[in-house]
Amino acid sequence: MTGITTQDEKRLVLVSGRAHPQLAIDVADELGIEMVPTTAYDFANGEIYVRFAESVRGADAFVLQAHTGPINKWIMEQLLMVDALKRASVASITAVIPFYGYSRQDKKHRGREPISARLLADMFQTAGADRLMSVDLHAAQTQGFFNGPVDHLWAMPILTDYVRSRVEAGNITVVSPDAGRIRVAEIWAEKLGGGPLAFVHKTRDTSRPNQAVANRVVGDVEGRDCVLVDDLIDTGGTIAEAVKVCLDAGAKSVIVAATHGVLSDPATQRLQECGAREVVVTDTIPIPPEKRFDTLTVLSIAPLIARAIREVFDDGSVTSLFDGNA
Ligand code: R5P
Repeated sequence: MTGITTQDEKRLVLVSGRAHPQLAIDVADELGIEMVPTTAYDFANGEIYVRFAESVRGADAFVLQAHTGPINKWIMEQLLMVDALKRASVASITAVIPFYGYSRQDKKHRGREPISARLLADMFQTAGADRLMSVDLHAAQTQGFFNGPVDHLWAMPILTDYVRSRVEAGNITVVSPDAGRIRVAEIWAEKLGGGPLAFVHKTRDTSRPNQAVANRVVGDVEGRDCVLVDDLIDTGGTIAEAVKVCLDAGAKSVIVAATHGVLSDPATQRLQECGAREVVVTDTIPIPPEKRFDTLTVLSIAPLIARAIREVFDDGSVTSLFDGNA
């Protein structure tokens, strides 16, 4: 046989930006590996420097970064890491983005707006990412913005397992905070034993960010334990209003479950005061101590991300993590 034959040994490496070190540590622990030692710092003018301290040639690299505040800085850092990996001759690059920044701007709501979620996908492609991995995109169609494989993970199994342990089965109504997320609420209801569905009729002022008014709840919530589900809580306006309309309509209790706890001010105050029995989120975004409160539960997303990374590396099936539904 001509040429050179080598033992076909693959190598998985995990690198992380500086936005959410704890999540990176947790994912590395779940995988049973050390992260690639990395230098990253800011220059006086805000430019970012990154360098990996060991060779990554030929490796399948997974680059983890949380798109949290200051969000543009951390996105840029992740792009630079992808670029550095490409130029260091890795075999493949997967950008792991537990919360996909700019995901809410996935279409032009009005003329002369950008489609920011698309631009982000283009930037990762240009930098050299072969694949994206993310959790609960604001709209699943955002997968199509990236011209390559996108592993779209669902936090739902983690959230539903927890919520099931907190609410009396048989008295649950799953509530969507707006009409657009009813399909997601429907799947939640199935997972929680098939109770009724309700949704909040919400109106939004598109000229002002984070402004929504919950008008009324449509569906059977009186005397019920409501589970209000959303993809993200930013300033908490949407969810706090939705909790109030459910309670005003006679709900017995309300538990809020959301994947991404962005918790921009004044979310902590709103969530504490809205009357929800408990607010459950995952740690796709770091939640510092000052944003936490007694009725907030933060579940770890690390086991899910680690399992998905392993499936990708082993050429296994990410879909199998979600009973074939993802
Ligand atoms: C809206 O479509 C989203 O799913 C969230 O409900 C919304 O973006 C949350 O924002 P805020 O917490 O600022 O109301």
